[in-house]
Amino acid sequence: MKYSLASKVNPITDKKDCIVIPVFTKDKKTILNETGKLVDKACSQAIQLILDNGDFSGEAEKTLMLYNLKGIAAPRVLLVGCGEKDKVDIKTTNKISQAVCQVVRSTKVKKAGVYLSDLLPSNTQNITQIIMGFAETLYQLEDYKSIKENGKKTVLSKVCLSSTSSFDGASKQALKNSIAIVQGMELSSNLANYPANICTPKFIAQEATKISKHYDDITLKVLEEKDMEKLGMGAFLSVSKGSDEPGKMVILQYYGANKSQPPVALVGKGVTFDTGGISLKPGMNMDEMKFDMSGAASMLGTLKACAEMKLNINLVVILALAENMPSGRASKPGDIVTSMQGTTIEVLNTDAEGRLVLCDALTYVGKYKPELVIDAATLTGACIVALGHHISAVLTNDDTLAENLLEAGKDINDPVWRLPMNDDYKKQLKSAFADLGNIGGKAAGTITAACFLGEFTKNYKWAHLDIAGTAWSDKDSTGRPVPLLCQFLINHANK
Ligand code: BES
Ligand code: MN
Ligand code: ZN
Repeated sequence: MKYSLASKVNPITDKKDCIVIPVFTKDKKTILNETGKLVDKACSQAIQLILDNGDFSGEAEKTLMLYNLKGIAAPRVLLVGCGEKDKVDIKTTNKISQAVCQVVRSTKVKKAGVYLSDLLPSNTQNITQIIMGFAETLYQLEDYKSIKENGKKTVLSKVCLSSTSSFDGASKQALKNSIAIVQGMELSSNLANYPANICTPKFIAQEATKISKHYDDITLKVLEEKDMEKLGMGAFLSVSKGSDEPGKMVILQYYGANKSQPPVALVGKGVTFDTGGISLKPGMNMDEMKFDMSGAASMLGTLKACAEMKLNINLVVILALAENMPSGRASKPGDIVTSMQGTTIEVLNTDAEGRLVLCDALTYVGKYKPELVIDAATLTGACIVALGHHISAVLTNDDTLAENLLEAGKDINDPVWRLPMNDDYKKQLKSAFADLGNIGGKAAGTITAACFLGEFTKNYKWAHLDIAGTAWSDKDSTGRPVPLLCQFLINHANK
């Protein structure tokens, strides 16, 4: 899909296959904005007549397609309800965009002129939400379908965000950034949606290699199991050894700023399938555990987006890639392993594997002297109990980092909520025989998991994102938290 901005266009003479006009409401009445009035006047109040007879309420996300209006160059005018103007927020804008896309794609429209430039007070946020709304609606993985229905049906190829006034430099930048972000989301979603027999640690490492070859400012290094043995990554290896698929740790570096500038580190949980290991999971919905590499996928997606945006920042991205399987070589409950940092861990439950692969990655990343570290992981089912599927959890040892992540989430409609992680919770990780147990009991599972990671992140500013509830919904990857991370990094680079 091609997205572009068009300044100072006249909707009346705009020759797109369809123009999209907003309809607002005020005191239960429908109202048109300046653009709408212009169009309405040119077609002798045909639109106002429809609004007056009450057939179209202007309620947010409602749409009405009008054909061949006299005096209008475009053969289709799509009215889209936006509700009360002052109540339109970032989320409604995204929903409105999705509704528009849903209707437009079901027609033969190739080029659409979308006149929704004034939904939000911030032009940049408006542009981002409209593009994200379109991209999310159009996204569908069809690589494994013999008949590509979706691809065949959609003829839409150009979405022009149009305005009768002009877009400024910030808007143009927002367009570029948004395109990069939705590309990053698409990469992330593809990897997450791919089945686990294809999307193995090796496969993800190959995808990462492709990216490092495509961008001059990205380098790549892969740690194989034998390298990790030398480094003493006993926690990571205790997970990967149960599988016939070799585990890998992929390290990517992006240099968008002076080499001397300390990097922001992004660490992703990349468990390409989580059976639970010997602490085997129940069969119901186990297929969804192919998504257990969503953290790693989102870090790779974010990296790609940053490289596309040419963001003025340095990044080090670590993908901790392993498959969690039961086998004769798998860890058994009660096994004790030694992490790279030297901390011994009693593996009381082999299904708490995410923290095991992550803790060694978090130790290893310290050697890059990062300015701050963010990890993303589908770490705990408890996070879904706590926050459901709408908000990701953030747990951090730094208040400013928490604020900045919350802010970024609000900016781009990919929200996070902070959970506490004080020492009271840490006590739950006590082990009778080792320094740490890998589980903390029934209570506060998301917090104790973060406390476990916190034992390996004491030397730097760090935030952990638990994306168990947000990385996918209805068996489809959401691309989250790519928007959140991108927005955070954009804000960070501009500071
Ligand atoms: N990948 C799972 C967490 C998960 C479960 C994410 C369901 C999304 C949906 C993780 O490895 C896991 O199994 N966690 C355990 C931890 C427990 C054994 C302490 C869990 O949440 O049950
Ligand atoms: Mn697990
Ligand atoms: Zn897992």
